[in-house]
Amino acid sequence: MPWRPDAPVNTAEAAEFLRQVHADNPGLGPVAHRIAEVEAEVAATGTYTHTSTELTYGAKLAWRNSSRCIGRLYWHSLVVRDCRHVTAADEIFTELVEHLRVAGDRNRRAIRPVISIFGPAAPGRPFARVWNEQLVRYAGYVRADGTVLGDPRYVDFTTAVVERGWRGKGEAFDVLPVVVQTPADGVRVFELPDAAVWEVPLVHPELPWFADLGLRWHAVPAISNMRLTIGGVDYPLAPFNGWYLGTEIGARNLADPDRFNMVPIVAKAMGLDTSTERSLWRDRALVELNRAVLWSFDRAGARISDHHTESRHFISHCTREERAGRPVPADWTWIVPPISGGATPVFHRYYEEFDLRPNFYLDAEAATLASTGRPVLARPAPRPSPRLPQQHGRGSHGPANAHPGAHNHPQPAICPNHGAVPTPRLPLRPAYPRTSV
Ligand code: ARG
Repeated sequence: MPWRPDAPVNTAEAAEFLRQVHADNPGLGPVAHRIAEVEAEVAATGTYTHTSTELTYGAKLAWRNSSRCIGRLYWHSLVVRDCRHVTAADEIFTELVEHLRVAGDRNRRAIRPVISIFGPAAPGRPFARVWNEQLVRYAGYVRADGTVLGDPRYVDFTTAVVERGWRGKGEAFDVLPVVVQTPADGVRVFELPDAAVWEVPLVHPELPWFADLGLRWHAVPAISNMRLTIGGVDYPLAPFNGWYLGTEIGARNLADPDRFNMVPIVAKAMGLDTSTERSLWRDRALVELNRAVLWSFDRAGARISDHHTESRHFISHCTREERAGRPVPADWTWIVPPISGGATPVFHRYYEEFDLRPNFYLDAEAATLASTGRPVLARPAPRPSPRLPQQHGRGSHGPANAHPGAHNHPQPAICPNHGAVPTPRLPLRPAYPRTSV
């Protein structure tokens, strides 16, 4: 479903959303009047303005419809911050810092799910966005010998912000700056204040040497480059967070070979035999890495789930939703945890996958900005052959310069796959065919 930022709001989608909001919130009264009002507004302007109830409930529904999220039991508790009036880059950044403060409160030892929703995209008009994939992420630097210090996932993004004048400390856990792009201010780079970034140093309950690895992770995962769509209206800047599931850090971020790749290091420090797979050194090291994450977050008062408990909660959520007559779209390959899958109840069933709105989408352009830190330009159109007459008007609807400021960066990235979002993870086990009996 590639997004068409030039298209007016689809009034059928708007009406369907409004019917859902009014059905679930009886205090709002009959929906017919509101639908007529929205249709008139769309006819006049191409879009419409959500009431604050619509915005709040729409954001909660978008979470409930997110088929990759195991934590949806809590969809109702989402704190929605209406930032639609905030447009200047520095004010947007101030709100992002405030978001992190509301989401993670070290003193109260609390993390709560929060979304901050900035202005919607009006058809054909430029909009504000954040380039970063998450508000808090760690830089990656390529060393002279080709190895990487920090998070290899962000090497290109780091290089791009360094070219824009940012200087990191040159350590393994340097928090990246936030890149904010607005129609009026262009591209601006902001450094997060230390107080805004809650980090947890990782120690192990029984292995004293673990602390010397110098590992840490940030407490709040805040996705900042997905587009929120509610009732046909798109919000390209709507950063949201929940709290972590331990395996995201201990079995992926710190463990994946193309991320911090700590499994061999932990295994060696544990004295395991890494010369043979039969010692299951990878599995044993993964378990201790994950224990360290859970233990350290618990000690710091940073809310975190473990995959056993969260899997049970997800099954309760499915039961509760199905009882209410609502199917739960879910993606098996994302719901099942990356360690001990079969030891959790979410493994032992199949799920339906379908695209329910409201929802969150990762657009190809947003994905490219987050991985390269550079504006996306269309591939140059093939040059007309000199013997043919010059063609006019070609490429006039193309995405070249579709984005403000795209032309003023020295090294534009070429978007490798217009429209298609790369699958972030290969399905390890097919979700289909479903059991046919
Ligand atoms: N997997 C991502 C990370 O490790 C975070 C995705 C959202 N996770 C969450 N618990 N809300 O940073």
